[in-house]
Amino acid sequence: MPVEEHDIARLADAARLARTRAYAPYSNFPVGCALLLADGTVVTGANVENGSYGLGLCAERAAMASLFADHPPGERTIAAVVVVGPEGVADCSPCGACRQWIHELAPDAVVAFPWHGELVTVTVPELLPFGFELD
Ligand code: THU
Repeated sequence: MPVEEHDIARLADAARLARTRAYAPYSNFPVGCALLLADGTVVTGANVENGSYGLGLCAERAAMASLFADHPPGERTIAAVVVVGPEGVADCSPCGACRQWIHELAPDAVVAFPWHGELVTVTVPELLPFGFELD
């Protein structure tokens, strides 16, 4: 599915709304993520931290986990992943763990995230070259 610039803008709006629901009291770094599915549906997620710091969940993986809860197999094709970090923060690229999840669950998606103050769009192999795969 071709993803247009207006799709990315709409997803960024949805990610910004999800970001308002982040639970990030430890880092004060709220992140929102929006996924565009092949049928046009938008699925969102926000980061959820924990007092046991290492257990925090990133917005991207929260969105992908929500996708599995709400959409049956066959309706989970992800065309785009858009991430927004805190207002005014120039860089918020997906972490290594999220890149690996995206590599497995959204291999054909375009991925957009704030970089040097701009929303840049890349392919998954650009985001994670040599991504791990079983077999
Ligand atoms: N975080 C995300 O949710 N996604 C990213 O792409 C980068 C980092 C979260 C993890 C943690 O809750 C906070 O941002 C600060 O690292």
